[in-house]
Amino acid sequence: MKKNHIGKIEYNKEIAKDTYKLVISSDVKEIKAGQFISIYCENKTLRRPFSVADFKDGDITVLYKLKGDGTHYIKNLNENDKIDFLAPLGNTFNFENVNSALLIGAGIGIAPMLFLKKELDKNGIKNHLISGFKDALEVVEGSNQVVIGGSVLDEIENAVEKIKPDIIYSCGPSIVLKLVSEFGIKNNIKTQIAMEKVMACGIGVCRGCIIELKNGKNASVCKDGPVFLGDAVQW
Ligand SMILES: Cc1cc2nc3c(=O)[nH]c(=O)nc-3n(C[C@H](O)[C@H](O)[C@H](O)COP(=O)(O)OP(=O)(O)OC[C@H]3O[C@@H](n4cnc5c(N)ncnc54)[C@H](O)[C@@H]3O)c2cc1C
Ligand code: FES
Repeated sequence: MKKNHIGKIEYNKEIAKDTYKLVISSDVKEIKAGQFISIYCENKTLRRPFSVADFKDGDITVLYKLKGDGTHYIKNLNENDKIDFLAPLGNTFNFENVNSALLIGAGIGIAPMLFLKKELDKNGIKNHLISGFKDALEVVEGSNQVVIGGSVLDEIENAVEKIKPDIIYSCGPSIVLKLVSEFGIKNNIKTQIAMEKVMACGIGVCRGCIIELKNGKNASVCKDGPVFLGDAVQW
């Protein structure tokens, strides 16, 4: 499948503090929740990876937090500008045989959770999305429950009690993913987590994004992931 695409920017605006929504129209045929795209930023050798927050008829939505040169370059792109990216990359969340799901997004980790929520809704799967942000100015809309200042993890137990999920999906900083995975193991609930790792090639070639699994094998976050079973990762 063709991976390199040149799209056109339809929308690129700040939607919360230092958080931008980027919509690219493209010839990409299919992207599923969990997958990501990798954007070429002028004068940068390494492309920058971003989860897909929505996909419809070739329009790809990304939510990005301003960080360094790459994200500042993207911020300065205008409507109708061309944008060079690789897509779709990585694997997907799996919701086969799931009846009820709890979704946890910490910070900009909400991005793939919004896409997953939409897919679960479309498939009639009961779900509840909790998102957490450092302060009120950073809140991105779209969750069932927003935690400001505190930890999303403090809300897991109550939510599990209420919606009795068969699975917990999560994306966010590594420490959140580790704790969600440990919560799943302790309470006998499956977990699927979307991991972040600094990437170079983005397509499984350079071995720069390797993590260790409990079975002793290595896995690349860009090709074998970014979605892993929480209990399979060696934290
Ligand atoms: C699978 C995946 C999905 C992601 N999804 C999102 C998203 O939806 N929204 C969002 O805001 N950010 C996301 N990130 C993080 C995003 O890729 C980095 O914030 C971005 O690359 C920073 O680039 P920069 O040039 O602005 O910053 P710099 O700090 O200047 O980047 C320097 C280098 O580090 C790499 N890098 C820095 N931070 C990260 C990081 N956390 N993860 C991976 N590479 C990093 C960059 O690619 C670059 O090579 C994701 C990362 C991965 C791996
Ligand atoms: S970034 Fe090259 S193998 Fe993952």
